[in-house]
Amino acid sequence: MTTSTSRHNDVIVDFQSKRGESSAAFFLPFLSPGMRLLDAGCGPGTITAAFCGAVGQVVGIDIEPKAITAARQLTGDGASANLRFEVADMMSLPFGPQEFDAVFFHAVLYHQPPEAIERALAEARRVLKPDGLIATRDADVGGNILYPDTAGLHLALDLWQRWYEHSNAEALQFGRRQGVVLRANGFDPIWSGASYVNHSADAAARRDTTRDAIASLRGLSSGLVAKALAEAAEVETAIDAWRQWGEVPDSVYLRCRCECVARKLAADSDVTPRPARALPRGCG
Ligand SMILES: C[S@@+](CC[C@H](N)C(=O)[O-])C[C@H]1O[C@@H](n2cnc3c(N)ncnc32)[C@H](O)[C@@H]1O
Repeated sequence: MTTSTSRHNDVIVDFQSKRGESSAAFFLPFLSPGMRLLDAGCGPGTITAAFCGAVGQVVGIDIEPKAITAARQLTGDGASANLRFEVADMMSLPFGPQEFDAVFFHAVLYHQPPEAIERALAEARRVLKPDGLIATRDADVGGNILYPDTAGLHLALDLWQRWYEHSNAEALQFGRRQGVVLRANGFDPIWSGASYVNHSADAAARRDTTRDAIASLRGLSSGLVAKALAEAAEVETAIDAWRQWGEVPDSVYLRCRCECVARKLAADSDVTPRPARALPRGCG
């Protein structure tokens, strides 16, 4: 069986390294300087680093050694004294109980089957202090905006979903279900929203998006065909669609990311919300 580890590839690392502060922005108003934050499944660390100025200490963990190497390089190996990265499994965190004030999952849970999500959230609860905060930001295909909105582009999106084995509609719409999932796993959601990853801000961004999409599809092509998840011709059709998208001067690809912040419930709490601390301004 293919694991998320073996799916990691250079194209993904390259793409992820272009994002940072905008992906962390929704959680910043909930953080304060004394906090210790864990970024679980941190990938190349760009988003992890965006928390350094907001909290006292940041730890990024990822199961993929290559991602941690990229993270250490990207953030300049100790360039920030309050940031460190470790290879670790979010299903079995190498930390004691109640070591963190906040745990962050970005584009991580969406890729996991339900039992893995439960396990990862149980670990997050264990390492969080009482009243600790969890924040998740993940995709929801229902919110994506594409122009031109062609069948070939939808085929490309479908091929990526096939690769990640998201065969049911619930996984594809994980973003809107984050609050429900967190509540079912011992957290009290206190804020939710959404924002977009902009893959088409200007001509250079469109060029990069086209190049990355084509490189990703080419990278996955033999695996998709070998696993009988796609025909080679389908991959070529999807690649052509991205090429054509890249040639349209005002093409648009805005990728929806739903966001949720929740507070850890005490072990003996039910799901009834407890009296909340005052929310940061603009977050009520
Ligand atoms: C789509 S990437 C997101 C990376 C980063 N959070 C970001 O948004 O830039 C998903 C990451 O989760 C990591 N991952 C998957 N399963 C994991 C596990 N069990 N423990 C820790 N990391 C895991 C992968 O290696 C990958 O780096």
